[in-house]
Amino acid sequence: MIDAHLIERIQDHRAHVSVIGQGYVGLPLAVEFARAGFTVTGVDVDLDRVGALNVGRSSTPDVASEDLTALLHAGRYGATSDFAVLEESDVVVICVPTPLGKSKDPDISFVVAAAEQAARRFRPAQLVILESTTYPGTTEEVLLPLFEARRAQVGVNCFLAFSPERIDPTNQNFKVRDIPKVVGGITPACRRLASLLYRQIVATVVEVSSPKVAELAKLYENVFRNVNIALANEFALMCRRLGVSTREVIDAAATKPFGFLPFYPGPGIGGHCIPVDPNYLAWKMRLNGYEARFIHLADQINRAMPDYVVELVTQALNEQRRCLNGAKILALGVAYKRGVGDTRESPALEILARLRDKGAGIAYADPYVPSIILDGVQLKAIELSDQDLAAADCVLILTDHPDFDYRRVVEVAPLVVDTRNATWGYPARAGQVTRL
Ligand SMILES: NC(=O)c1ccc[n+]([C@@H]2O[C@H](COP(=O)([O-])OP(=O)(O)OC[C@H]3O[C@@H](n4cnc5c(N)ncnc54)[C@H](O)[C@@H]3O)[C@@H](O)[C@H]2O)c1
Repeated sequence: MIDAHLIERIQDHRAHVSVIGQGYVGLPLAVEFARAGFTVTGVDVDLDRVGALNVGRSSTPDVASEDLTALLHAGRYGATSDFAVLEESDVVVICVPTPLGKSKDPDISFVVAAAEQAARRFRPAQLVILESTTYPGTTEEVLLPLFEARRAQVGVNCFLAFSPERIDPTNQNFKVRDIPKVVGGITPACRRLASLLYRQIVATVVEVSSPKVAELAKLYENVFRNVNIALANEFALMCRRLGVSTREVIDAAATKPFGFLPFYPGPGIGGHCIPVDPNYLAWKMRLNGYEARFIHLADQINRAMPDYVVELVTQALNEQRRCLNGAKILALGVAYKRGVGDTRESPALEILARLRDKGAGIAYADPYVPSIILDGVQLKAIELSDQDLAAADCVLILTDHPDFDYRRVVEVAPLVVDTRNATWGYPARAGQVTRL
């Protein structure tokens, strides 16, 4: 039986929602609840972030600072690092990081720390939802015992569920409210209550039979992406040997109106999710005596791409009777993907460090990333100009930010290695542009 009072508070948007972790995932979610009329508290251990949020400075591109300010003024959103607020909360959603440890095993210490805080402050009639991407079994094997140890009766006075976050930062077409929410509860009552909550802010909620199904659904999505990117990357290596354009072949294949989804090659994988999440599943399967072969192969291929890019730059220079040692390389973009300033796991950093190791002089332009650290040394971004493009021995496109004028790059730069097909369609001189 679900607590009628809690149902009512959720339906009337009177429930107090606390979202633990105010990063790329937690802040947009908190803001969406606040926009719907809930009173929302963002809880974060990062004091600087809490301070910034409370004066209306957003930490993610998906939340405009003006929107945050309006919600602060309306008293519908506030941030804190004091977990005591969880005692007053009807709903607690956990959106903390799930990175890999040094040995590439899952590090769920942030999830455990956040869940311990919530369990310690548990009071009857609370809904607790984990959104962080994690290995199958986390909600049942790790979170459930924490709450049971505090005498919570899960499915009776405590409702525990997993619902993976699927946000794609900067995606203008699909924001929190447009992306269907998958929900799996420890009991049917947990699932129904979590589903009711999300129906207040998203159009489609998909209920599944257990938290494990929901945890696996998210991992399958990311493994699917990782494997298909690896396939496109390996395909690029094959096309090069056969002397054809990878892009032309993939675009031709993509004209098939069914049964095909185009993925394109790139300099490697980056960000918080795709290079990390498949390892969560592979680790769990290893514990179950099974090697996740596709995951390992995809990882191997994707991680070899930075070396391949270095090889392409070396070859391109060689064809101009230049060597890498002493060459001036100008990189365009260092973020892991278009339109963001996020350099976590960005292959660009690895590529630039290797080029510098081999004696190349490195400069970079990236309107979203003012500086980077390469092997402990800080490098500042330059304002891109025609003179820079003309003076570089090789312009290396690593992120296809929408801010660069790629036609101009091809017009001015003597030599271009384009790992993102950003210059596709712009006329180039023979041997001037190498594309993946
Ligand atoms: N970024 C994405 O595009 C994306 C998309 C889907 C899912 N995810 C998943 O969502 C989860 C969160 O990712 P993110 O990108 O928002 O991370 P993030 O690093 O942007 O933000 C996490 C926030 O949690 C805070 N935090 C860490 N430990 C805490 C604790 N114990 N208590 C309170 N706050 C704590 C950090 O200070 C930080 O502000 C991860 O599991 C990630 O895999 C991320």
